[in-house]
Amino acid sequence: MSLIYLKRIFWSVSVISAILMIWYVAVPSHTVIEHINWIHFYEYELVYKQKFVFMLRERIKCEESNPFLVILVTSVPMDVEARQAIRITWGSQKSWWGNQVQILFLLGQGRERDNSLTLSVEDESILYGDIIRQDFLDTYDNLTLKTIMAFRWVAEFCSNTQYVMKTDSDVFINTGNLVKFLLKSNALENFITGYPLINNPTYRGLYKKRFISYDEYPFNVYPPYCSGFGYILNSRLACRVYEMMNHVKPIKFEDVYVGICLSILGVSVYIPEDVELFFLYRINFDICKYKHLVAVHGISPHEMIRFWQEIMKETSVPCH
Ligand SMILES: *[C@@H]1O[C@H](CO)[C@@H](O)[C@H](O)[C@H]1NC(C)=O
Repeated sequence: MSLIYLKRIFWSVSVISAILMIWYVAVPSHTVIEHINWIHFYEYELVYKQKFVFMLRERIKCEESNPFLVILVTSVPMDVEARQAIRITWGSQKSWWGNQVQILFLLGQGRERDNSLTLSVEDESILYGDIIRQDFLDTYDNLTLKTIMAFRWVAEFCSNTQYVMKTDSDVFINTGNLVKFLLKSNALENFITGYPLINNPTYRGLYKKRFISYDEYPFNVYPPYCSGFGYILNSRLACRVYEMMNHVKPIKFEDVYVGICLSILGVSVYIPEDVELFFLYRINFDICKYKHLVAVHGISPHEMIRFWQEIMKETSVPCH
């Protein structure tokens, strides 16, 4: 056999395996369920009621302060710097035109005791009284448990707030705009908004962070949901979603999980008309854009401080 002939065989085999590989990744296997019915995820019994214990809870009493908005920020024990940045920037002002806004952080248990930290989470809680913590392990894969904790906290301890926002510690929020946006939206009974993801397809490829197995999620598209970096709902809906969570098995993506609960409840996502309010990805600092937006993802603690100082300056930059 000539070398050329061997080479040809080699290349054909390579091409065929590449095609098969792409086929495998791109084309769903037959376990996929074509007809989407959200009831698939619903269990009649309360089988998914989480029994984690609150280890820390804030001092602030919702009954007394009667908040307009509570912003719950996912954070990890190590993330002191990000929490501090938020406390002195968009979390610093507690009242906007007479509407009370409270910022609280959501944590799980660190793997080792927190003694590697200069300021332990317990000390932080004593100092600021803004930590909510349960006894599950604080890992990326447990983010959904953190969201369930957030909803449970609202349902049990703060159901008198008007709105709840769930966000992350790398999100810059223009708190005043958020309050204004909510006052204007004049929300009805079931209101949830943020950065909407409608007909978002599932990903079955090799990138682990985005991958979801057919076992965990058998459909090809996700229900309508708001990206987890920042969504806002009225507290009555938050309580209904929490009730539903007790019947629905947690999946790895917390925002999709909330979307599943919403779909079973028959609640649709409110899509803001203005597309310049929620930014899924970081945008470079621009005074007019930042004065106009509500939330932008992917901002470091240092940038947060810088950007906040800029937008709070009383300079008259012409924006329209
Ligand atoms: C999630 O938390 C539970 C309870 O602490 C723990 O047993 C489990 O290992 C954690 N899961 C992951 C994937 O980290």
